[in-house]
Amino acid sequence: MQPKAEELELHYAEAPQDISLADIDLDHLPAHISIIMDGNGRWATKQGLKRAAGHMAGVDALREIITSCVRLGIDVLSAYAFSTENWHRPQEEVDMLMHLFATTLINELPLFDQENVKLVFLGDLTSLPQETRDVFQEGLDHTSDHTGMVLALAVNYGSRAEIARAARELALEVVNGERDANSIDPEAIASHLYTAGLPDPDLLIRTSGELRLSNYLLFQLAYSEFYITPVLWPDFDRWDLLRAIASFQGRDRRFGGVEEA
Ligand code: FPP
Repeated sequence: MQPKAEELELHYAEAPQDISLADIDLDHLPAHISIIMDGNGRWATKQGLKRAAGHMAGVDALREIITSCVRLGIDVLSAYAFSTENWHRPQEEVDMLMHLFATTLINELPLFDQENVKLVFLGDLTSLPQETRDVFQEGLDHTSDHTGMVLALAVNYGSRAEIARAARELALEVVNGERDANSIDPEAIASHLYTAGLPDPDLLIRTSGELRLSNYLLFQLAYSEFYITPVLWPDFDRWDLLRAIASFQGRDRRFGGVEEA
């Protein structure tokens, strides 16, 4: 996607000392950036606040990163908001998060309009509370004809469940005579994942310093570059995003091959 130069310069004015827009090659940006937004709870605890305050600050961080990605001309931004394992959190926190997802989406629809952002969801939405499902559906309908950056929010998402679901669907196609079992290749599996039609992430960012994937996009991240930062998600800002992109651009991506002479 073609970034608008003036808006981008303005968005990235007043650079800190260690990074600026000039450190980034705008012609070689990652097409798909994916983020494991971690550290909301620790951020809140550090400030003597309740965990809910950390999640609310996390929404502000996400808004800044959505805008930054749009300004840069990133094609796809995906973010892990709620895993299939997050249901094990205290009920009060789960309820709070589900309500926060709904209110955030409603509040951000004008931003999605203004920035032409198209919303998609990764995950099984059927077991979400009705309020959250209704608002998510409204977000999908509202942005379905948007042609700008795709924002893929992973909610009630678990990669193993996603792969098992793809296997079930492919098995059914074989049983129903719609497909030959020998035609099941990586592309066939990819076409049955929630991310079907989206490019694989080029860059995975995980905040808060944890060195694990937490059941996130296990199939899709096969050749992604990882950027792990100790910054807690609510503190992650547009400059941290540039630092991540600068690191990505310093990598030698060989996809299992060898460097060309
Ligand atoms: C991880 O921090 C963060 C979450 C489980 C929730 C992330 C959600 C948002 C930022 C809101 C996104 C909004 C929409 C509309 C999808 P943690 O609680 O695991 O932090 P900790 O590891 O420090 O406890």
